[in-house]
Amino acid sequence: MKRIGVLTSGGDAPGMNAAVRAVVRTALSKEMEVFGIRKGYAGLVNGLFEEMNARSVSNILHHGGTILQSSRCPEFHKPEVVQKAVDVAKNAGIEGLVVIGGDGSFRGARDLSETGLPTVGIPGTIDNDIGCTDYTIGFDTALNTVKDAIDKIRDTAQSHERCSIIEVMGRGAGYIAAYVAIACGAEAAIIPEQPYDFQKDIIQPILDNKKRGKESNLIVVAEGVGGSVEMAKCIEMITGIETRATVLGHIQRGGSPTVNDRMLASRMGVHAVKLLHEGIGNRIVAVKNDEIVDYDILEGLQMEKSFKKDIMKMERVLSM
Ligand code: ADP
Ligand code: F6P
Repeated sequence: MKRIGVLTSGGDAPGMNAAVRAVVRTALSKEMEVFGIRKGYAGLVNGLFEEMNARSVSNILHHGGTILQSSRCPEFHKPEVVQKAVDVAKNAGIEGLVVIGGDGSFRGARDLSETGLPTVGIPGTIDNDIGCTDYTIGFDTALNTVKDAIDKIRDTAQSHERCSIIEVMGRGAGYIAAYVAIACGAEAAIIPEQPYDFQKDIIQPILDNKKRGKESNLIVVAEGVGGSVEMAKCIEMITGIETRATVLGHIQRGGSPTVNDRMLASRMGVHAVKLLHEGIGNRIVAVKNDEIVDYDILEGLQMEKSFKKDIMKMERVLSM
């Protein structure tokens, strides 16, 4: 391929800029032209293209968000809109595309590939909810942001002998919740993938902790479970322990990417361009056991990560 495009789609994630930079500079090094496509799939359909050079991606590595901007484009579920996107890209001479986004964006990438525009997906989402890859770009940075917030909440919860509920992002996935629960020594973690019993999994541990001499409790609740404000009221009513809820929200999506996210994004960007340079599309780039690999898009989306149950068991043991 001689000319490719790159776009960011779905929720932004820290490290997307590092991936865009890697795509642009790798393509230029292979004497390919690269067009940045603004505002995700909406920009693809509407031809928001801009040719990129090495300087277009200077000084972006350390910034959160995405210089290309992102969007959610519900019309992309319609085959005629996907066809229009392929026609617009082909009219601009774009022969292949890199899509940096989450699982929804990858379903769009599969549709584009099937409609005639070879597309490679790079996993960029704080949720880490893409089965075929150990890590997604943005997850590590979000974890560190949440860790900083929870450490601060622990200070005040301990001073007032309170229970604090912290609701973290992750849409239908509990990876952020499970990881920070371990990293911040939470007394309990509630994730959507694992059913829970309010009395047995929340109230009883709080009462047991009191007997064991613990003076504060942190309970991490994943967004996919939700209801943290109501949960706090119920805990206070049943246990008599003052309880506060904090919904962390979009603070988790911003900020300068960690070294891990910059490295992952750079390695994945290089690999994505290598695939397109060889004329290969309909792939998800992934990291498995620290190796950069790629999978067929549908197969990759159907794969499952296995380590969540072990992490949740570990959390129980370590929070005694
Ligand atoms: P993410 O990529 O972070 O999971 P979304 O689920 O919002 O974010 O998806 C981003 C965009 O991808 C959507 O706004 C839509 O344009 C496109 N998309 C999502 N699901 C599909 C689908 N099943 N078919 C085609 N396009 C889709
Ligand atoms: O997919 C990333 C994410 O931050 C999810 O964790 C969350 O559910 C969703 O995006 C929030 O989306 P929005 O920014 O559109 O409110």
